[in-house]
Amino acid sequence: MKTKKYICAANWKMNLSYEKAKDFVSMLNEKVSTGSVHCQMEGGILKSSLCVFPQAVQATLFKDVSNLSWGAQDFYFENDGAFTGQNSPEIYKELGADIMLIGHSERRSLFNETNAFIKKKIEKCKSLDLVPMLCVGETLEEKKAGKTLDVLKKQLEEVLPMDNGMYSGDQQIIIAYEPVWAIGSGLTADTKDIEEAHGFVKSLMGESTNVLYGGSVRPENAKELSSDKNVDGFLIGGASLKLDSFLAIHETLNN
Ligand code: PGA
Repeated sequence: MKTKKYICAANWKMNLSYEKAKDFVSMLNEKVSTGSVHCQMEGGILKSSLCVFPQAVQATLFKDVSNLSWGAQDFYFENDGAFTGQNSPEIYKELGADIMLIGHSERRSLFNETNAFIKKKIEKCKSLDLVPMLCVGETLEEKKAGKTLDVLKKQLEEVLPMDNGMYSGDQQIIIAYEPVWAIGSGLTADTKDIEEAHGFVKSLMGESTNVLYGGSVRPENAKELSSDKNVDGFLIGGASLKLDSFLAIHETLNN
């Protein structure tokens, strides 16, 4: 039986100096190229099970890195034009990106991103053959009110083609379930909540959709947080800023 390859995605957010990011990418690339880290995904939707979302200004660091999955933390839904300050998805594609992060809760809450806007970005990914990683998740208030699954449903339904409550598109999408209250807080969802949320997302999206968990993942809690069969990997913020802890999480899941 083929063992499952867990995806570990680094969301650097607005962190790491250019030089630090450069060292990170060159050390990671060396480990992958020399075979000391095994992360190639043959026949998968991504090039590798390790994946990095750098800041836009760090993106050129990945230009000559051909064996790692990476892409934008954010981008605009047009290729070019009079959109001051925006980043073109086509340029990411030109530099070799294969995956794009969409709808992170910080984009939704701090930059007022709506589901209508998110939908356009998912469609843009389709036209450029980039894999969207769509983030969904409830706030603490919504959790306390018992609304988690309703929130997830709405966040999926309003941005994806759905038929009778089931995903009906042919685009391969990765979903990252990130409870908003667990992001950067040191708190994590408990395994029962993860089981329920991931099972629910798979019931709408289909069993083969990769569903990652995100929110205060660390090398120490990675094993426990991945215990449910419907967890296919992690989206990692703080613990992805150091190569050692990022790789330790990947190793915990894949060995
Ligand atoms: P965190 O961030 O691991 O620092 O909680 C996760 C994320 O925001 O994707």
